[in-house]
Amino acid sequence: MQPRPVYPSRPFVWGHRGTRALAPENTLPAFDVAVTHRLDGVELDVQLTADGVVAVMHDQELERTTDGRGWLGALTWEELQRLDAGSWFGPQFAGTRVPSFAAVLEHLPASMWVNVEIKNAPHAYPGLVEKVAALLREHGRAGRAVITSFDHTCLAQARAVAPEILRAPLYAARLEEPWLLAERYGAYGLHVHSDYVLPGDVQAIRARDLMVNAWAVGSRETMRRVIEAGATGFTLDDPRWAEGIV
Ligand code: G3P
Ligand code: CA
Repeated sequence: MQPRPVYPSRPFVWGHRGTRALAPENTLPAFDVAVTHRLDGVELDVQLTADGVVAVMHDQELERTTDGRGWLGALTWEELQRLDAGSWFGPQFAGTRVPSFAAVLEHLPASMWVNVEIKNAPHAYPGLVEKVAALLREHGRAGRAVITSFDHTCLAQARAVAPEILRAPLYAARLEEPWLLAERYGAYGLHVHSDYVLPGDVQAIRARDLMVNAWAVGSRETMRRVIEAGATGFTLDDPRWAEGIV
């Protein structure tokens, strides 16, 4: 089992895709909003370009958040950089680019935690976990990062290549004995869809000294509910909800 991160004596607050409610998700402006709101960390999604650059973007298809088309992994980094990843959100963000993971690590203050979600489906990205781990180390971030994925084979890879970096499986289901999943991958905790963050389950997970981070926290009400249920952290869309907490 991994050592616990030193968390504050209140739930740990991650900004979802930076802060997707106030700026184009997974872009530098979105990460800046998280910094301004003094969140503890940012959650972001990573993929690989055709020429092996780790890029920060949620969808594997380009249409929703850029003016490009098709699969991100079919483009080289240079091609990806020609796309506009901000106009879809608002004209004031026109010209915003898809950032590289390295650029985000360079950009964020050293005190900020980074929750890296490996987006490995439907297209899988061989070598992505290794590159993420190497970049976290290179940028001195290995001690303030968590590697997560719905593709749990990525957690096994993360444990093999970077056992010192915290890892946690993502899931959206009610598991009978959820702690077994954490134990299988030597994870520091579980990142659980908010619907399944239930007081009794959280208590049983916490009794095993595991952390419980709630994701899909899309409203203030959901945030209050997961705090009540005992979540040790949560990933929220709008940083304004955390005012008075962080
Ligand atoms: O932190 C997990 C959460 O980000 C997973 O959902 O779709 O926003 O990547 P999604
Ligand atoms: Ca994500």
